Amino acid sequence: MPGPESAGDAAGLDDLHAAIARYYTACLHAHGATPRGVDWESLATQQMRMVQLLKVCDGSQPFSLNDLGCGYGALLALLATRYPATPVDYLGVDLAAAMVAAARRRWKKRPATQFVVGSRSPRVADYSVASGLFNVKLDQPVARWEHFVGHTLQHLHATSRCGFAVNFLCRLAPGAEVSPALYCTEPDRWIGFCQTTLGARAECVAPYGMREFTLLVRPS
Ligand SMILES: C[S@@+](CC[C@H](N)C(=O)[O-])C[C@H]1O[C@@H](n2cnc3c(N)ncnc32)[C@H](O)[C@@H]1O
Repeated sequence: MPGPESAGDAAGLDDLHAAIARYYTACLHAHGATPRGVDWESLATQQMRMVQLLKVCDGSQPFSLNDLGCGYGALLALLATRYPATPVDYLGVDLAAAMVAAARRRWKKRPATQFVVGSRSPRVADYSVASGLFNVKLDQPVARWEHFVGHTLQHLHATSRCGFAVNFLCRLAPGAEVSPALYCTEPDRWIGFCQTTLGARAECVAPYGMREFTLLVRPS
């Protein structure tokens, strides 16, 4: 497998990727390889998100899976319980080198498992998932963050043979208090992008008990 690619520079995203890596490295140092260490409030909500994302996969037969923004590889624990009899060839990718190091330590005995540092999957897989990549925009202007989101969706589309899944925070009612560091949006904004820019079909999964939605995106 080739080394991790970085096309962030071509898209003018290198500094943004570096800021994201710093943010999540600090989370990991503060809370270890736990849901809090990847900025989730609990194991229950971390897994609830993953259950929605895995709806893009056909778990009745072996498949390959790219997990972009894999953190410490928590998805692998859920894969083992949901698909105990289905071999899943897994590649985790994360911008934060400390996350990848934690993931490699945790999953060193699992077969068909690789982790790389970067913002791009160096292979095409049957499916890709990306959980929680678009929520914390730090101090970035919305337009720049949406450039990052669009660039990431294009990459997921290009590296997924059968489809990919991503999640977003829902926009709240006008007047509701939201941290300016969070990116909140509406399904139609990104369903339209998937249809028009990617030429793909996007299905929205919601609600599932959180102020979030998941998009399942498949080639047309
Ligand atoms: C909210 S955490 C979620 C981790 C994991 N998906 C989970 O649910 O346990 C987001 C992770 O995505 C990584 N990340 C964010 N944007 C990324 C990108 N464009 N490419 C690769 N990793 C990214 C961060 O470093 C962080 O580890």
